[in-house]
Amino acid sequence: MRKIIINGGKPLTGEVAVSGAKNSVVALIPAIILADDLVVLDGVPAISDVDSLIDIMATMGASIKRDGETLEIDPRGVKDMPMPYGKINSLRASYYFYGSLLGRFGQAVVGLPGGCDLGPRPIDLHLKAFEAMGATISYEGEMMRIATAGKPLHGAHIYMDTVSVGATINTMIAATKAKGRTIIENAAREPEIIDVATLLNNMGAHIRGAGTNVITIEGVEKLHGTRHQVIPDRIEAGTYIAMAAAIGKGIRVTNVLYEHLESYISKLEEMGVRMTVEEDAVFVEEQGKLKAVSVKTSPYPGFATDLQQPITPLLLMAQGQGNISDTIYEKRINHVPELARMGANISVLGGRIVYQGPNQLSGAPVKATDLRAGAALVIAGLMAQGTTEITNIEFILRGYSNIIEKLRELGADITLVED
Ligand code: EPZ
Repeated sequence: MRKIIINGGKPLTGEVAVSGAKNSVVALIPAIILADDLVVLDGVPAISDVDSLIDIMATMGASIKRDGETLEIDPRGVKDMPMPYGKINSLRASYYFYGSLLGRFGQAVVGLPGGCDLGPRPIDLHLKAFEAMGATISYEGEMMRIATAGKPLHGAHIYMDTVSVGATINTMIAATKAKGRTIIENAAREPEIIDVATLLNNMGAHIRGAGTNVITIEGVEKLHGTRHQVIPDRIEAGTYIAMAAAIGKGIRVTNVLYEHLESYISKLEEMGVRMTVEEDAVFVEEQGKLKAVSVKTSPYPGFATDLQQPITPLLLMAQGQGNISDTIYEKRINHVPELARMGANISVLGGRIVYQGPNQLSGAPVKATDLRAGAALVIAGLMAQGTTEITNIEFILRGYSNIIEKLRELGADITLVED
């Protein structure tokens, strides 16, 4: 099993470039199954979720060429077959194959998806949307069949009971070639939804309103090829900005779309973090004393649930006390005992995370319990005095491309070792 070893306390400085958005590319790749020609993606991050998706697509018959951050996908060879079971469980986002296989073949036979341990991760909203569009759901052992029994999907007026990124994107994908109009109300508004709609529209789809809470899709017969640049990863950007504020002596985070991080940056400013927002970068100075603040997550454009863990080490060095409440995943707290092991005054009280700063963290053996918890532990390890060993690091490599190289470039003493 591999682990990350960090000798902390080293001041970091320089420039780090943000890669393409994981939560966009994990939807873009399956959506390409709908095309009847080549599609090229630029700015694809080097993360293991992409490796898994490429494996799944290739197993199903797509031909894929990867050259650095460019993926050339020819989906024409994709067969109407049950999803390869083993791979499906490696990532929750495999649910996007439901929408694209349903849209192309009128059926999808899949194993139930895996993903991080963030408490129950239902897919009822995805299935409700597919049923509204004419599909029926049946279960055969661990496999689930979503099928339209030969008729194409038809448009529907769908109201999402909960704002859901995955259900919004999956419904949009399935509706692209459905007969007639689909309206999604109470849609999620994340930038990744706009990115998927942009790809589909450039392939010939008719999607309007992506990024607002009402999305309208007019079904089309065919989708052709295109070339598409993946948007920058706002969560990776937020992670490096927090790290730069915590342990940096002047770090420029580049390939950042400020408008994707407005609520996050205003929270950092509330703490007193000094930074300059540039054209497509954020320069973070070396910080003085910071003020403890409280964080409450909400769907975009609110404070992202994915950033409440990465910002926590920075909160821990601020003066005063605060709390963090995640309204989207109340169980997203598994990083708390690990940070406490590093000497942090942090705990979970009545469903909220409470902390008291400032803290001087000490290196310790800790384990990553999910992707963003792992990122928080990396930042904490860089801040801590002494050596931190992080296990279960496969989670981290799912969402942070070349994280070891990027941090080494900044002067970090960090190594990935085979145990
Ligand atoms: C996406 O997950 C992201 N993953 C998550 O990022 C992110 O935390 C989450 O959106 C929220 O922003 C990807 O995009 C691959 P949801 P998703 O559907 O789509 C409930 C990371 O670290 N819900 O927006 O699975 C659900 O329980 C990952 O990069 C239902 O009830 O999340 C949650 O409370 C972690 N029924 C809320 O909605 C459903 O059918 C929001 O979930 C679907 C969701």
